Amino acid sequence: MTQHSQLVLGIESSCDETGVALYGEQGLLAETLYSQVEMHAEYGGVVPELASRDHVRKLLPLIKQCFANADISAKDLSGVAYTAGPGLVGALFAGISVARSLAYGWNIPSIGVHHMEGHLLAPMLEEESPSFPFIALLVSGGHTQLIKVNQVGDYQLLGESLDDAAGEAFDKTAKLLQLGYPGGPALAKFAEQGDPKRFTFPRPMTNRPGLDFSFSGLKTFALTTSQKNTLDQQTRADIACAFEDAVADTLSIKCKRALKQTGLSTLVVAGGVSANKRLRSSLNAMCQTLNARAFYPRHEFCTDNGAMIAYAGYQRLLAGEHDPLRIQARPRWPLADLKIPQAL
Ligand code: KG4
Ligand code: ZN
Repeated sequence: MTQHSQLVLGIESSCDETGVALYGEQGLLAETLYSQVEMHAEYGGVVPELASRDHVRKLLPLIKQCFANADISAKDLSGVAYTAGPGLVGALFAGISVARSLAYGWNIPSIGVHHMEGHLLAPMLEEESPSFPFIALLVSGGHTQLIKVNQVGDYQLLGESLDDAAGEAFDKTAKLLQLGYPGGPALAKFAEQGDPKRFTFPRPMTNRPGLDFSFSGLKTFALTTSQKNTLDQQTRADIACAFEDAVADTLSIKCKRALKQTGLSTLVVAGGVSANKRLRSSLNAMCQTLNARAFYPRHEFCTDNGAMIAYAGYQRLLAGEHDPLRIQARPRWPLADLKIPQAL
């Protein structure tokens, strides 16, 4: 076993995925993930109490598995990072309690990480990673935000969704089209059979200035379109296709505006919806017109995972940050409230 001078255990439990990873000087050493998707599918969405209980069941076995995969033991660790928010409070507390107790028992520092900071730093885990400053488009089940990222911890909110998040709109439209849960990937797959020319959905808030979004109207548009037509298999696929196009196009228009407005040429796209192929090709085409470049996490790090939390925590612990003795879960937590780590 090699000596690890800085090695951080990362724990993610903010929603319906239990993620654990080890990140150190040599990069990502191991990661384990358990998705609760099957358990929640029966209910058509995440049931918070069931999520919390399952995190409690899975966390320690996943941590043990991660140690075994990386061939390390607790004495090799220099810190523990965990998601402190935003998220479901019970689910957050499952991860927080385990992380804080282990760190206390092992006599090493711990650090609470902002879930969206984890997402926006996830592309840093790739070999070809973006350099600061850049524009980040965060598109998940709970957030749609455009952020100017100057460095780790220096986040300026440029725009956000005034109602539904992009992932939420995908999930709700998928439900309407009887595609089950989780809706985003199911809708994307189903849309491949659709005719992109049959319906044209609006591009909300693109014909007025600003960088905010609104996606709840698209879900309503999908509903009225489905009511006006016979809802056979092809029509459902055509609606899915037009909906996906509208989301991808709207996000691309706003990203282009943000890049032009700031004069930056690097775009980072992260969060569950960044896995969407249609969105990626639309953003890549837009970036080409500006001589800009888009960076994405690898597919499995688009959605929730422990690696992004281990990475963000590693950066902050390395800079000398650690938790106070008080324990706090933050179900709501503006990203712009974060501070730059002192030593950076
Ligand atoms: O980042 P994430 O795993 O969890 C949150 O922090 O919310 O994002 C989950 C969201 C869900 O709304 C899911 O439907 C959406 O990301 N999503 C997708 C795709 N994969 C996941 N949406 C569209 N296309 C996809 N391929
Ligand atoms: Zn997430």
